[in-house]
Amino acid sequence: MNTRSDRIMPELIPVLTREEIKERIAGVAVQISQDYENRELVLVGVLKGAFVFLSDLIRHLTIPVQLDFVSVTSYGSGTSSTGEIRLTKDLSMDVSDKDILIVEDIVDSGLTLQWLSEYIGSLKPKSLKTCTFIDKRERREEQISVDYACHTVEEGFLVGYGLDYAEDYRYLPGIYHLKL
Ligand code: IMP
Ligand code: MG
Repeated sequence: MNTRSDRIMPELIPVLTREEIKERIAGVAVQISQDYENRELVLVGVLKGAFVFLSDLIRHLTIPVQLDFVSVTSYGSGTSSTGEIRLTKDLSMDVSDKDILIVEDIVDSGLTLQWLSEYIGSLKPKSLKTCTFIDKRERREEQISVDYACHTVEEGFLVGYGLDYAEDYRYLPGIYHLKL
């Protein structure tokens, strides 16, 4: 039987090491660099979670890119989506006629990425694709296509490498499965 302290100490089970993360990003960076050669690519990072992945990704790319950020809220501090999405920081660049790649930390239900794709799509970019560090299939509600994914998992709540649980664990260099 669990003791009281077992129940309040979350368990962190390793999913990807620092080295494995680097390999995954290098692979996706080769693809993106080939696909966008001689184009004007703008990476749009989704704050806060994607900032670690985005900063590593741009240094693996072999093409010049520009950067912008958006911030949305959908989660509160729990582990499942409320389904309600609100833009809390808008783009600062004009994205019309640019090649845009939305960069997410993790896609779960797909509601956030679907909402963002519709919003950015309405600003008439030349092209719009999506990239995520982790593609989690468990609770997918929207039939969105993720164009580039570094790692796919079926289920579980993940933390580290920018991913948080109630703002904790973002600083961890690896990805862990959080068992509450
Ligand atoms: P979605 O709208 O359900 O696809 O969720 C997207 C957002 O929820 C992500 O950008 C994350 O910020 C957050 N999220 C979803 N799953 C996880 C997870 O396993 N760990 C940490 N954050 C998550
Ligand atoms: Mg996010």
